[in-house]
Amino acid sequence: MSDPQATYLSDYRPPAYRVTHADLTFDLDPATTRVKARLHLARHPEREPGEPLVLDGEGLSLKAISLDGEPLEADEYAVDDKHLTVHRVPEAFHLDTEVEIAPEANTALEGLYLSNGMYCTQCEAEGFRRITFYPDRPDVMATFSTTVIGGTGEPVLLSNGNPVERGELPGGRHFVTWEDPHPKPSYLFALVAGDLKKVEDAFTTASGREVTLQIWVEEENLDKTDHAMASLKRAMRWDEQAYGREYDLDLFMIVAVNDFNMGAMENKGLNIFNSAAVLTHPHTATDAAFQRVESIVAHEYFHNWSGNRVTCRDWFQLSLKEGFTVFRDQCFSADTNSPAVKRIEDVAFFRTAQFAEDAGPTAHPVRPDHYIEIGNFYTLTIYEKGAEVVRMLANLVGEAAFRRGSDRYFERFDGQAVTIEDFVDCMAEASGLDLSQFMHWYSLSGTPEIDAFGEYDYAKAEYRLILRQRTPATPDQLDKQPLHIPVRLGLVGTKSGRDLPLTLDGETLGSDAVIHLREAEQEFLFTDVSEAPVPSLLRGFSAPVKLRFPYGREDLAFLLANDSDGFNRWDAGQRLAMLALDDLIAAHRNGVEKVMDPRVTEAFRGLLEGEPEDRAVLAEMITLPSEAYIAEQQPLVDVDAIHAAREFMRRGLATALRDDFLRVYRENQDDSPYAPTPEQIARRSLKNVALAYLMAIEDEDGVQLAREQFEADHNMTDVRHALTLLTHSSRDELSEPALKAFGEKWAHDPLVMDQWFAIQVSRPQPDVLERVKFLMQHPAFSLKNPNKVRALIGTFAGQNRVNFHRIDGAGYRLLADTVIELNRLNPEIAARLITPLTRWARFDEERQELMKGELERIRAEELSPNVYEVVEKALA
Ligand code: ARG
Ligand code: ZN
Repeated sequence: MSDPQATYLSDYRPPAYRVTHADLTFDLDPATTRVKARLHLARHPEREPGEPLVLDGEGLSLKAISLDGEPLEADEYAVDDKHLTVHRVPEAFHLDTEVEIAPEANTALEGLYLSNGMYCTQCEAEGFRRITFYPDRPDVMATFSTTVIGGTGEPVLLSNGNPVERGELPGGRHFVTWEDPHPKPSYLFALVAGDLKKVEDAFTTASGREVTLQIWVEEENLDKTDHAMASLKRAMRWDEQAYGREYDLDLFMIVAVNDFNMGAMENKGLNIFNSAAVLTHPHTATDAAFQRVESIVAHEYFHNWSGNRVTCRDWFQLSLKEGFTVFRDQCFSADTNSPAVKRIEDVAFFRTAQFAEDAGPTAHPVRPDHYIEIGNFYTLTIYEKGAEVVRMLANLVGEAAFRRGSDRYFERFDGQAVTIEDFVDCMAEASGLDLSQFMHWYSLSGTPEIDAFGEYDYAKAEYRLILRQRTPATPDQLDKQPLHIPVRLGLVGTKSGRDLPLTLDGETLGSDAVIHLREAEQEFLFTDVSEAPVPSLLRGFSAPVKLRFPYGREDLAFLLANDSDGFNRWDAGQRLAMLALDDLIAAHRNGVEKVMDPRVTEAFRGLLEGEPEDRAVLAEMITLPSEAYIAEQQPLVDVDAIHAAREFMRRGLATALRDDFLRVYRENQDDSPYAPTPEQIARRSLKNVALAYLMAIEDEDGVQLAREQFEADHNMTDVRHALTLLTHSSRDELSEPALKAFGEKWAHDPLVMDQWFAIQVSRPQPDVLERVKFLMQHPAFSLKNPNKVRALIGTFAGQNRVNFHRIDGAGYRLLADTVIELNRLNPEIAARLITPLTRWARFDEERQELMKGELERIRAEELSPNVYEVVEKALA
């Protein structure tokens, strides 16, 4: 087999032929589904006449082919493992093909497959070519008519658009024909068939149109759709108000499926969801899951405009729809929940996971310039960094111009497949700003670093701020240009504790302003600064960069107590904890006694004993940086030292502040019926953080409370948290009975069993690897189900750092074995699972060798393009 080839952005050409309309008929059968396609094609005006027609197709068995009604002779076309070529075609014509596919054999979960006996599809990015021969690229947009034929096992037959005809057929079969009037790329095609039940609701759009809303699930899940439905309606209203975008069909459907590679998919009028991203019930889903469902439902709905009505010209533009849509769902969640906490959570995740991606061998720009397998590019960089770039744009141009720009974008490009330039041009036109330097954000990989220095001149009442930017080299790019970086900041007076008025170059800017860093080094001189300030920099994380400033610990404690920006208050606390953790890590490595920095303890005491304005923010502020985040900050990752240092600090805080934690726990207990409201969620998270501290020292009151909370069985947030704490304790008599009871109670519910798996394999005890292996044999586990793989293997390798990085290499071996097996079953999931091994360069030599050894072992296999691309980059 030859090595997979890369596709380059610079090679883009419009398609030789466009499809104006596609007429499909599916005769469903698990082993032999027949797909008939009539494609109406015409030469693209920008391409020369006389070119052959080349359609994509993989794993299809061609049964019949004719052109304008005439069957083609064997020498008039050719089929290989990737394409169907018709050598001579007219300017405009229709092509009929008939193929056979086997949904039951499809374990990759791309194209048409079976999940729990139900037919469903996943076509983004290139799954449609596994269904029928087609120009499977997003710049080919066609209207679709789809007839689905099923049997008695499939009473429900769904596709995109509106149902226009249905009827009975001989042999107990029946059909439904769907018509989607909106031209769409093939990646938005969807089909679902099975024994599904629906929950129905309605929405009246701003202009008064009635839309029917349906959520389709398996019968036993009918009681788990309320929250998704409510979220959908909120999202529909929000998009009308925030962006002036209305829904455009009479019917909007969501379907929940158990086997799904990602979170969800925005197929036109028929969104298909991983059941984990749609089903909730107070007894089966945590607050975090409720919030995740809300944001994913909104995300997929928002794609109806940012993605579907205006789509991507090619897959290099993926962030055009994903970055923008993530930004939209983040703003929606901020509006419906606590905005400060939403930002803190998003940034905490971003700085851990995206920064790590940007610093590793698979680093790539928000708009990559080449790929081997596009399925590998549904990344944190495309999604989350893409959203940060849109957020910077929104902040640069301002709210009103951003809205004018987005209106312009949706109106000008409606029904078209466009590029990132088209989007940014609309923003430049609407604001009058020159965004040419800003465009580098899309082509640079790696995380920019800013080194900041400040100096206060008391006599002149001046504050001089110097900012230096540089982006370290990444494997794909060695030289980096300076970026246009918006830095939001304030100067907090050390006497008053207030934001001081800002005057820069004679211009008054208010007390919270954005300065523009464009040069490699730039100086900003603030005048009329009446008292010595501590600078509060990069407020709200105004740019996706690493910012260093030589803060002393007193400065950080001061900002933690006084900064007017909630996000930076939290960040000051994280920075303070990081400085203290650095000392503890060094002490651990040098084998000297660890000593707790009293400034951290006192800062936390101040927070706990102060008046809680926002409990959700407080919960974040008293949470220490994660081991993964701490690791991100170290030049060389010492997993054991990091774990020991963090545990030492947790126990130190718990011992010193035991009574405060106990009081906070009690004050925030709440027996009212569960609701996923911001107020209740805030109380639960604060209470549960407090309980975690008490359990860190296995305080007897704490143990008692954890047991009670588990047994009270009030809601999954509390139960799962208590079970996690009991499971992670060092005492088997606490963990084992609780795990057993929980596992038996929920054996019938796959989504709860996922949580049961994840809880057990995240425990720090050294026997956990054996437990992972044992659980892989559990009847509820299956390598074919991505949620199970993520819950068990993903959690172990991604979150249980001390055990995954065991010095005997057994953790690495287990991961590589799993990747090798999944490479054959589900290449997309296999490629994702490798991630922790690709980060080998961050570890000591012994571990580096072990990790590389496992990568080599994977490389020796016959690899899917997905796994091949990741392993080659990791070993380059
Ligand atoms: N567009 C989908 C979303 O962002 C994700 C599709 C991912 N597909 C894939 N093959 N990785 O909601
Ligand atoms: Zn998306």
